[in-house]
Amino acid sequence: MIIAGGSFASACCPAQSSPATPTSESAKTTEAGKPAASPPSHQHDPGNERREQRHERAPGHAHQHRGAHTGGAHHQHDFSDVERYAKLFEGPERDAWQKPSEVVKLLELSPGQVVVDLGAGTGYFLPWMVREVGASGTILALDSEPNMVAYVQRRAQREAWNNVVPRRVAPESPGLDPNSVDRILIVNTWHHLPDRQSYGAALERALRLGGFVLVVDFDAQSPIGPPTAARIAPAVVVEELRVVGFEASTIQEQLPYQYVVQGRKGPGLDEGVR
Ligand SMILES: C[S@@+](CC[C@H](N)C(=O)[O-])C[C@H]1O[C@@H](n2cnc3c(N)ncnc32)[C@H](O)[C@@H]1O
Repeated sequence: MIIAGGSFASACCPAQSSPATPTSESAKTTEAGKPAASPPSHQHDPGNERREQRHERAPGHAHQHRGAHTGGAHHQHDFSDVERYAKLFEGPERDAWQKPSEVVKLLELSPGQVVVDLGAGTGYFLPWMVREVGASGTILALDSEPNMVAYVQRRAQREAWNNVVPRRVAPESPGLDPNSVDRILIVNTWHHLPDRQSYGAALERALRLGGFVLVVDFDAQSPIGPPTAARIAPAVVVEELRVVGFEASTIQEQLPYQYVVQGRKGPGLDEGVR
């Protein structure tokens, strides 16, 4: 656990169908879906799908919440069925609430930058990022799921995205060199990272001075997203980033279901050894 009483929030799965307007009724459903206790680990029963709202509905779906649901648990999920996830992540209805151009605008990209999309999935954000960093920039599309990486490889080839470098990473490390990147985008993935303190520290080291990470994830009240028990409050994300040296805060956005936390790399305490 990194922060007492905290948890990492993020959502595994965007909505599979058009999201309903948030209502107190949907919030109630969410609450009802919360497990009564937080077991060390559980296998998801597809029959529980209603209790997990629109989290994931495909037969055979399996995920695990390792450790407690709050205070540092990470949410394990099988993303290997990439064709199915491509329909889910790339569905036309997602743009309306995900607002990818707004999210990418918050990254304040400029040509020539090195940008990481951590947990890039099917590459949903890449079309917007590719444009902003231009031919002189690089986008590292990192994912721990080999099928996702292969999917993005094919997509980048098809779209002639020469500045996209898809790369498989170990679940516990982004594998980035110190002071090597300008921005890191993490959408609906933060809660999947194990040992976020050491992961966050690795991200902080990887950023160049003044660079920043953006964590985008689902609000507790959102009618779509992962099980509420797997969500993390933005204040907790802020703390988790601060603890590893980031200057972190939530930032204003127009996203109906998500928050955005920015962690900027300042001079830090160990500047002398960088
Ligand atoms: C919910 S998807 C989000 C995909 C993409 N960011 C989007 O918003 O469309 C989470 C992605 O994170 C990846 N992932 C999960 N755990 C990871 C880890 N420890 N390191 C890197 N990628 C991870 C999964 O394979 C999956 O592609």
